[in-house]
Amino acid sequence: MTADPPDSAEAPGFAFTAEDMAEVTGLINKKPDQLLQIPDVCSMLSISRLSRVKSDGVSTADVVSDGVIENALEHNLDALRNVEELDRPWRLINPLRSNNYFILHHKTMKVLTVGPRTEAEILNLIGSGFQPENIRGLDLQSYSPFVDIGDMHAMPYDDNSFDVVILGWVLGYSRDNATVAAEVLRVARPGAFVLIECQYNPRSNEELNRALDIKKEPTRYQHTDDMVHLFDGHIRSTLFRHDVHPTMRHRNGDLMVIFDLKA
Ligand SMILES: C[S@@+](CC[C@H](N)C(=O)[O-])C[C@H]1O[C@@H](n2cnc3c(N)ncnc32)[C@H](O)[C@@H]1O
Repeated sequence: MTADPPDSAEAPGFAFTAEDMAEVTGLINKKPDQLLQIPDVCSMLSISRLSRVKSDGVSTADVVSDGVIENALEHNLDALRNVEELDRPWRLINPLRSNNYFILHHKTMKVLTVGPRTEAEILNLIGSGFQPENIRGLDLQSYSPFVDIGDMHAMPYDDNSFDVVILGWVLGYSRDNATVAAEVLRVARPGAFVLIECQYNPRSNEELNRALDIKKEPTRYQHTDDMVHLFDGHIRSTLFRHDVHPTMRHRNGDLMVIFDLKA
């Protein structure tokens, strides 16, 4: 039998000294939001903030368009009571942080995240360098001052409002992805970055609808090509694409793409 490997902090040559920890504590005291660069901290804070929300503290959209699949609101209100996968947004946002334009300009860039559900994504964005006053979320439900109530098929924002628009695991709740894409193109500024993540799921639509208790067919994607196709004619360049590995198509996975729009 082999022993469990030591935690990284205990591994030979990797022990933190008291001086190391004093340096880290000094940095955190000076810039507490540096802690938001740690995914577990964002998840923990998001759960703790959500636990203080009273039952009447969650507002919901009164009217939604035909594009919203049936049960979307009920399903997502349930999911708010049993939060999971709070570190998922990091997988999508991290590649953007390698982009030179982003590195130089992120402090002034305005970002919209569509369908954040919890504040985990908002905290991830602050940890990625966006200023809190430049961050908006849009969702059918909200308990957060960062998240506006609204429907992605008719976004409550002016034209050319955002430098970055994020659609993280939300297109599946729409029967009309073309209208969502048109709304993204309307509210995004010329040259804006668009980040999209959709779930790849090997189950059939029927199996999935039964499992999720969703009555109308959600939009499903098999490859990032189909997600990119929604924005045909508007893309300047693709920064990042992630398709499901050929040996892993029997299990759930992520389809992710980041591109910038023509200026
Ligand atoms: C699966 S969660 C995604 C959470 C997070 N973005 C992530 O990647 O982990 C989908 C969210 O989209 C929201 N949503 C669904 N349909 C929407 C619509 N038409 N407009 C705005 N938000 C919507 C849901 O209420 C839910 O909070």
